[in-house]
Amino acid sequence: TRPLKVALLGCGVVGSEVARIMTTHADDLAARIGAPVELAGVAVRRPSKVRAGIDPALVTTDATALVKRGDIDVVVEVIGGIEPARALITTALEHGASVVSANKALLAQDGAALHAAAEEHGRDLYYEAAVAGAIPLIRPLRESLAGDKVNRVLGIVNGTTNFILDKMDSTGAGYQEALDEATALGYAEADPTADVEGFDAAAKAAILAGIAFHTRVRLDDVHREGMTEVTAADFRSAREMGCTIKLLAICERARGGASVTARVHPAMIPLSHPLASVRGAYNAVFVESDAAGQLMFYGPGAGGAPTASAVLGDLVAVCRNRLGGATGPGESAYAALPVSPMGDV
Ligand code: HSE
Repeated sequence: TRPLKVALLGCGVVGSEVARIMTTHADDLAARIGAPVELAGVAVRRPSKVRAGIDPALVTTDATALVKRGDIDVVVEVIGGIEPARALITTALEHGASVVSANKALLAQDGAALHAAAEEHGRDLYYEAAVAGAIPLIRPLRESLAGDKVNRVLGIVNGTTNFILDKMDSTGAGYQEALDEATALGYAEADPTADVEGFDAAAKAAILAGIAFHTRVRLDDVHREGMTEVTAADFRSAREMGCTIKLLAICERARGGASVTARVHPAMIPLSHPLASVRGAYNAVFVESDAAGQLMFYGPGAGGAPTASAVLGDLVAVCRNRLGGATGPGESAYAALPVSPMGDV
């Protein structure tokens, strides 16, 4: 069987792990897929930063030319952000590649258009890594629970803020002190706005709500409150009531199932609740459905290797689909269930 050609867009913390695992697990991947996978190109902004172990002959700064080559089977996008990722994914689909992406911001903003483009070209768009890192959530919701009816998805989907809140709870530290520690340990980015103001969690909530309820939910539809106003005193009060404070993403059916809502905000939860014991930078998500009842997904929500695990799982799935001449669930699996503004429940 001919090897399947993979183009990697971005070679940072996640991309370099994807390239490494593609090499070290090449035989296993080939066995899972039924054909070998070959890294055919790596597009980066600064070639000098590409880590050792990647053939320099594969490295290019011209991502557009790479996705337009026409012989690429799968494009793996781990650049993040809206542009140039959006244009590159669209061009890749137009040129016959399937796409695996870890880009939550882009999927939350333009998921509908990208899905439509994938379907138009008979290709796949998979993005397990966009939500909760290594934790399988997208495909369980899209596929394993496709015959059930999901009513609620609720959980901790941002590791940075969970680390900060956990630190405040366990040490009595204030927000700034806990944030400084998260930054020093490399959990929080230099500009922590996307995490602490809840944008990252809101993007994930939009993606989860869309998939769980088979509709389209965009970042703007998600009611969002960050956790920068939570104080040490709030934690003391929560403790007196047998509770702790977590930043939760909550997606649920509203108005008797006629619409959906999604929101992100700090919430008090009883210490006896399983989400209360999610420590550090971990994520945990509850899914409630008619037939399955309550399911809990738990694990590392960020980091190079865990995120690469989700990317590689998608890579195996889309490669198998290509060999079988099939595609995974696409845009037509979605109904137009309206999104209610917060409060209209
Ligand atoms: N900043 C994110 C987090 C990374 O802290 O969870 C994973 O999406």
